[in-house]
Amino acid sequence: MQLTRSGPIKIAVIHGPNLNMLGIRDPDIYGKDNFDTVNQKIEAQAKALGLEITIQQSNSEGAIIDFVQEAMSWSDAIVINPGAYTHYSYAIRDAIADSRLPTIEVHLTNVHAREEFRRHSVISPVSTGQIVGFGTNSYLLALTAAKRLVEESHR
Ligand code: DQA
Repeated sequence: MQLTRSGPIKIAVIHGPNLNMLGIRDPDIYGKDNFDTVNQKIEAQAKALGLEITIQQSNSEGAIIDFVQEAMSWSDAIVINPGAYTHYSYAIRDAIADSRLPTIEVHLTNVHAREEFRRHSVISPVSTGQIVGFGTNSYLLALTAAKRLVEESHR
């Protein structure tokens, strides 16, 4: 059956804890782009790809869960960097699984090449895929991937 959809593809971009500190926080690890610059690049990429997006950030687990649950009512996919919650938040993991939305897990750094505790993600098993290690570009690649996923699911 041919599925059709109308209007722009909609994506919820969610940043977790401490990402609002980008530019200030360990620039040698996380890069020099501050949070506003990262978001401007995300917005520009979304525009270039014809996507409609929202960008939200919270330092709180519950607020991130609320963002995921809200996305269920309007978005086609989620791009999320859960920050340190990646490594232990079963609550965010459950919210993503329950949403049934295609979800791309993003990290600025290559978490697999860092401390042992960062190598394990409780989010990956419920994500469509993971993009790590490309700095701000991880988010931009994730938008392209999310767009493809949604398009291909409606072919
Ligand atoms: C991060 C990696 C996490 O381990 C860390 O706690 C972060 C940022 C990243 O984008 O590389 O806050 O998610």
